Amino acid sequence: MKDQVIIFDTTLRDGEQALSASLTVKEKLQIAYALERLGVDVIEAGFPISSPGDFESVQTIAKHIKSSRVCALSRAVAKDIDVAAESLKVAEAFRIHTFISTSTIHVKDKLRRSYDDVIEMGVAAVKRARNYTDDVEFSCEDAGRTPIDNLCRMVEAAINAGANTINIPDTVGYTLPNEFGGIIAQLFDRVPNIDKAIISVHCHDDLGMSVANSMAAVQAGARQVEGTINGLGERAGNCSLEEIAMIIKTRADFLGVHTNIKHDEIHRTSKLVSQLCNMPIQANKAIVGANAFSHSSGIHQDGMIKNKNTYEIMTPESIGLKNQALNLTSRSGRAAVKNHMDALGYTEKDYNLDTLYTDFLKLTDRKGQVFDYDLEALMYFANLRDEDDFFKLNYLSVQSGSIMATTSIKLQCGDEEKCEAAVGNGPVDALYQCIYRLTGYEIVLDKFDLTAKGEGENGLGQADIIANYKGRKYHGTGLATDIVEASGQALLHVINSIYRADQIAEIKERIATV
Ligand code: KIV
Ligand code: ZN
Repeated sequence: MKDQVIIFDTTLRDGEQALSASLTVKEKLQIAYALERLGVDVIEAGFPISSPGDFESVQTIAKHIKSSRVCALSRAVAKDIDVAAESLKVAEAFRIHTFISTSTIHVKDKLRRSYDDVIEMGVAAVKRARNYTDDVEFSCEDAGRTPIDNLCRMVEAAINAGANTINIPDTVGYTLPNEFGGIIAQLFDRVPNIDKAIISVHCHDDLGMSVANSMAAVQAGARQVEGTINGLGERAGNCSLEEIAMIIKTRADFLGVHTNIKHDEIHRTSKLVSQLCNMPIQANKAIVGANAFSHSSGIHQDGMIKNKNTYEIMTPESIGLKNQALNLTSRSGRAAVKNHMDALGYTEKDYNLDTLYTDFLKLTDRKGQVFDYDLEALMYFANLRDEDDFFKLNYLSVQSGSIMATTSIKLQCGDEEKCEAAVGNGPVDALYQCIYRLTGYEIVLDKFDLTAKGEGENGLGQADIIANYKGRKYHGTGLATDIVEASGQALLHVINSIYRADQIAEIKERIATV
């Protein structure tokens, strides 16, 4: 049996489907680049039939990603498969992933079909997908609760139809490690053509078992693990790929398998996903939590000083955590900024040096010294901003204290600069009144969060909002030394996205009436 475990990332599909506000195409491409650099073998970029936005994201990712295989999801329905193939065809090679439910409850109560119908639909879907590509994955949704005889029949039929990867999902996170490993072992024992396909697993974390179940499956012979960065995904999430990669590396002695993952990219990828998806990571999360490598007990610290191996089974450096205290100031040139970005492992694909340097100079004006986390934050935010943003905050003045707050602003609205002043319950409220009046948009906020980025009083303020506009959710984020300004940027981020969407809708309407 091969000793490589294929890593299949579904952050942009199963992970994204669980976010309160969808990612933009640009954000998805940024994550796809990070996943490619991390060394994931397959990127599931989306579910193209589900929306025009998903179609566009898959197409864009298929066009730009070269060293990971790009994949798209489809139900076992002809139209889904055709649309998935259409979105992927810009890539030299691609994978179509098609699925149908196989558990009794899903077949009877959701699909309302017989099991024979389900097998027929699965087989037809695989055959249709094979007309477009020779890389076809077939999933038995809710396999964890599927009677084993039925599962064996379905798997055998899908392989005969041409599927070369068979995925066994524990869709509802119900199984236990021994049980799930046992299902995989039985498939190997009972399905006569099993050697013609890679067996994959896709576990959800409802009972906190997704990683343990996936590892039990690997020990039983599975050679593809599906999951997401930081364990994002439906409900309690999917199996965390960074945990799988580090388990396989750290316990290679016991497991005897390996992955293609570049482990020192883990930290950076995790941060990027957390930032763009607006999903903070719990401090005690394995591998990527803020406390994952910190030792608090005196006894542990004593042991660590004497020999790190006493309490450290893997090093922070192995996941790319660097403790670099950069000391850049307004006197630092472009080359110094670039050198630091190189040292942090970023390439010109990740940022635009001109933009970064301009933002860096503005920050040094207000903050003096700039640290590595500031540079990273500036990079994330520059990537979110669009050069053609219609509304831009040119000036902000705030007065607040024990009285009502007053804010005045100058806002660039296209070619025109407009001024406004307002009073409010606090400076953010007053600022938002100004922005609503000048832009003409009144937004309902579902969520407003302020966090400090960086360390201690040197940190920057980050504001994140989830806004609801005409039934669609938007995520806006802003970063500044001043939290009121960060809050304003977050609102403008949302308003610029809405403005862009309105413009596109208007153009489409105009074309339709010509
Ligand atoms: O959880 C699941 O079963 C899925 C399938 C579509 C693979 O996400
Ligand atoms: Zn899933």
